[in-house]
Amino acid sequence: MITFKTAMATDVEILALLSRVTYVESHGHFIDDKKDLFKYCEQAYSIKKTAEDLNDKNNLFYIVYVDDLPVGYSKIVLNYPFENKTSNHSCRLERIYILNDFIPMKIGQAFLNFTTEEAKKNKATSMWLSVYIKNKRAINFYTKNEFKNIGQLNFHVNGKEYNNSVLSKKI
Ligand SMILES: CC(C)(COP(=O)(O)OP(=O)(O)OC[C@H]1O[C@@H](n2cnc3c(N)ncnc32)[C@H](O)[C@@H]1OP(=O)(O)O)[C@@H](O)C(=O)NCCC(=O)NCCS
Repeated sequence: MITFKTAMATDVEILALLSRVTYVESHGHFIDDKKDLFKYCEQAYSIKKTAEDLNDKNNLFYIVYVDDLPVGYSKIVLNYPFENKTSNHSCRLERIYILNDFIPMKIGQAFLNFTTEEAKKNKATSMWLSVYIKNKRAINFYTKNEFKNIGQLNFHVNGKEYNNSVLSKKI
C-alpha cells in the first residue's frame, strides 16, 4: 500500500538518509569527481543541515511509504518566487526523489499530485522547480505534468556549475 506523510522533526534521520541515497543514485553519475560528490553530500544532507531545513516554517517535507517502508520524499519551499518570473505566492518544488528500487512502481505521479495538493492547501498558486538539463527522465516527467520552461539556474557542487532548466506551472 502506498501512503504519504508530512515529515516532522522526528523524521530527520529518515530524510537525511533518503536525501543522500537518492541524490547519489540519480545524480552521482553526472558528477565527474566522486570526492566532490562525497563532500557535497556530507554538507548538504547531514543530520544538522536536514534538521535546520525541517525547522524552517517555509519548508515542507513529505515522505512516501510502500508498505510502511520510506521510499522517497519531496520538499516544497513556500513563498518563494523565482526572480520576477513567478508570483509571490509561488512555491518551489525543491526536491522529489524516489529510491531507484521503487522507481519501476511509478509512484512519482501520485506523489507529485499529493505534494501539489499540499502546496495548494498552503496557499501556493504556482510551483516552480529546477532540473539538471541531462536528467531526461525527470524532464519527461515534468513536461508530462505541463511544467513550462521559464529560465535557467546553475546548481553548484563543490564550486562546479551544472546547468539547470527552471520550469513552472500554475496549480
Ligand atoms: C522524477 C521521478 C519522481 C518521476 O517519477 P516516476 O514514477 O519515475 O515518473 P513516471 O514514470 O510517471 O515518468 C517518467 C517519464 O520518463 C520516462 N523515462 C524513464 N526513464 C527514462 C530515461 N532514462 N530517459 C528518459 N526518459 C525516461 C518514462 O517513460 C516516463 O515517461 P512516460 O510516462 O511518457 O512513459 C522519479 O523518476 C525519481 O525519483 N527519479 C530520481 C530522482 C530525480 O531525478 N528527481 C528529480 C530531480 S529534479
